[in-house]
Amino acid sequence: MARPRLRTKLCETLNIEVPILLAGMGSRGKATPPALVAAVSEAGGMGVIGGSGLPPEVLQEAIRETRRLTRRPIGVDLLLPATLAEGAGATRSEVREQLRARYPEHVAFVRGLMAEHGLPEVQVDDEAVVSARFIQEQVRVVLAEDVQVFAAGLGDPAWVVPQAHQQGLVVMGLAGAPRNAQRQIKAGVDIIVAQGYEAGGHTGKIASFALIPQVVDAARPKPVVAAGGIGDGRGIAAALALGAEGVWVGTAFLVAQECAISDLQKEQIINGRSEDFEIQRFYTGKTARVVKNSVIAAWEKSGLPPLPMPYQKILMDDFNEAAVTAGRFDLHSNPAGQIGGMLTERKPAARIMEELVSGAIEALAGLRTRLEVGAG
Ligand SMILES: Cc1cc2nc3c(=O)[nH]c(=O)nc-3n(C[C@H](O)[C@H](O)[C@H](O)COP(=O)(O)O)c2cc1C
Repeated sequence: MARPRLRTKLCETLNIEVPILLAGMGSRGKATPPALVAAVSEAGGMGVIGGSGLPPEVLQEAIRETRRLTRRPIGVDLLLPATLAEGAGATRSEVREQLRARYPEHVAFVRGLMAEHGLPEVQVDDEAVVSARFIQEQVRVVLAEDVQVFAAGLGDPAWVVPQAHQQGLVVMGLAGAPRNAQRQIKAGVDIIVAQGYEAGGHTGKIASFALIPQVVDAARPKPVVAAGGIGDGRGIAAALALGAEGVWVGTAFLVAQECAISDLQKEQIINGRSEDFEIQRFYTGKTARVVKNSVIAAWEKSGLPPLPMPYQKILMDDFNEAAVTAGRFDLHSNPAGQIGGMLTERKPAARIMEELVSGAIEALAGLRTRLEVGAG
């Protein structure tokens, strides 16, 4: 049976059927595993691998595994942070040593938390640290593989754009404020993702309703894709009404059956009310929206300032590893957005896609029956 039609110009640009993209979510490979990325592409949208933090060889394997599951277009999202702490170590072991020497209070605080919860003494066992060289290697992998879209989360992708274009990739850049959109345009990206404050993960300060039309105006004639707080067809219809040509959906796919975050994390999202998804800086050092838990509360109470990238993340990666080993996902960082308050059950990604498409068509058609409009 033919799929219901919901097309914008973006579908031609990206060679997809419906203008719905799985947001690239970097969560050590768990949030956007190959099965989920492929399922979204197979359903007519575009799956995007959240590659941030994945060692280049692991990223390469994730791309190849996705390719074994779908021949349709896929993307990869990487974070290109503008600022990385000066002189940070090149391996986890080096960064841990620096943490002990420079930030003993933070290290002692985390050790105290681990003792309080009886967590085991385990650490992340790969040595990869996000550095300028690491990111260059990741980019090299993306450009060498069979990938159609490169998306840049944080930072300035100007150095990637010429080579990506030469390889035939479409480049997307995330913007959390109209002035970031201008920076992305200057960098030469083809599509801007306007990501509002409601979003899960790293996010800015401007809510989607205020942000999207401003980014549409700033980016014109470049297309804008809306992100942040979109979890059903009504959200898609609203984003299109604000001038976006498509949507970039993260949190709503975290509860997909194919998503590889733990079942307990999915339950936290399903059971959470919108106010339970709060902004804090103790996960990576940058503002990010996560499910609130006792670990964030303890950091806040400690009065310790979050550390710059990559220190806070390396410290918390080890804590999270210990929490996973102990099966304590209630203590683990769980990035997710305010729309979690609307999600009620785990579903296969194909069904999430079907419902997004049919819901958008219904919402758009419903407008015609509910409104009387006309000039004069
Ligand atoms: C678990 C998680 C991890 C994320 N990681 C990244 C990332 O690595 N790069 C990025 O550009 N955005 C990242 N984001 C933000 C998403 O790309 C997207 O903008 C956001 O999820 C959209 O809002 P929504 O969650 O309300 O759908 C992440 C979001 C979540 C929930």
